[in-house]
Amino acid sequence: MSTRSGPTRVVLFTGKGGVGKTTTAAAAAVHLADAGHRVALTSADPAHSLADALGVALSSDLQEVVPGLVAQQLDARQRLEEHWGEVREWLLDVFDWAGVRSVEAEELSVLPGLDDLVALLELQELGASGDHDVVVVDCGPTAETVRLLSLPELLGWYSDRFLGVSRRLHRLARPVLGRLTDLPLAGDAVFAAGVDLLDRIEAVRIALSDPATTSVRLVVQPEHMVLAEARRTWTSLSLFGYHVDGVVVNRVLPEDADAPFLSAWRATQARHLERIGTDFDPLPVFRADLADDELSGVDDLRRLAERTWAGTDPSARLVEGRPLRVEDTDDGPVLVVALPLAERDQLDVAVVGDELVVTLGALRRCLPLPWALRRRGVASARLVDGELRVSFTSTGNPTGATNGTPVGT
Ligand SMILES: Nc1ncnc2c1ncn2[C@@H]1O[C@H](COP(=O)(O)OP(=O)(O)O)[C@@H](O)[C@H]1O
Ligand SMILES: [Mg+2]
Repeated sequence: MSTRSGPTRVVLFTGKGGVGKTTTAAAAAVHLADAGHRVALTSADPAHSLADALGVALSSDLQEVVPGLVAQQLDARQRLEEHWGEVREWLLDVFDWAGVRSVEAEELSVLPGLDDLVALLELQELGASGDHDVVVVDCGPTAETVRLLSLPELLGWYSDRFLGVSRRLHRLARPVLGRLTDLPLAGDAVFAAGVDLLDRIEAVRIALSDPATTSVRLVVQPEHMVLAEARRTWTSLSLFGYHVDGVVVNRVLPEDADAPFLSAWRATQARHLERIGTDFDPLPVFRADLADDELSGVDDLRRLAERTWAGTDPSARLVEGRPLRVEDTDDGPVLVVALPLAERDQLDVAVVGDELVVTLGALRRCLPLPWALRRRGVASARLVDGELRVSFTSTGNPTGATNGTPVGT
């Protein structure tokens, strides 16, 4: 492999706590750097263990670990203070504008979601810098990852509605209102900073949900609870349009590990490994053996990765497929949302305004409908082979709202 020319690839590793996300991400990053890629390794997990895995000290700033590999351990709070001053200024201005005058800069860091926001901005910057062929991300545990990755869409949704409206109002009304009343209108600088920030979040949303740019890998162990969570994660990430294209099974008992004590474990692992193949089909499955001792440092990671990724470039897109598409059928256009392993009784769809609202258990995504499908009702919603297929009535739906439609087979 040689240095690629082309856009930066982003590869995220996530999974249940303790399964080996950090180890797997760091090992893949070392492996890629050895193969000649320019790699940046970053952690979105506030539990800082990248440095432990690599056996080096790390800070919030990128530093070289081995030739071709730079790594950082993000401290979102510190980062916010030193690097994302504009976000802080903007938030302070917004609070000030809203009449909340007593907010101190330090207090901002407790705002929920701000860590995620900083991590996303950092990711956007790493991707856009052109300095790296691959950005490898050691994500937090699955629930946090789903939260992190659904944030751009959520913020986009709010900003379209609120900032979009106030932006228009702002432009139109400011010159007039400014003379007539003392209605507080945000200063131009606040808006400019806000718009810039939202543009950047939009950019990261587009990059992360583009399968050509971003791949998500599920790290698991051949154990019942871990696998149950990974299956749900695959469904949830798919709902938000993320492309999961591989599974890494960590801590597999090596062939030559032989002892009577291990025989039940070996049988259990074999059973789970077989089921992983079926459940996660068509995702490729990679194995990382349980090492014969604690892993520590780059050389151990290198050995682990050489076996796991033998013959495969871990930065490549490993599976084709589109999370979202519109199909023309005899019964009219059908919106197809990939939802692997979703359960029918967890799903509900409804049209609200120009959006299709898909609810999956406690998660919800608002999908903007293409023009041709707007102002119609849901004719049927079916779950077929891991895909949600929604067809629409041909007549108009002037109110723009329908009741929730249960999903059939
Ligand atoms: N294949 C493996 N063989 C031996 N030890 C491992 C293996 N994978 C991970 N570990 C060890 O397990 C611990 C937890 O791994 P880590 O990657 O930090 O998990 P996570 O990031 O998912 O919480 C670490 O001490 C790591 O060295
Ligand atoms: Mg970790």
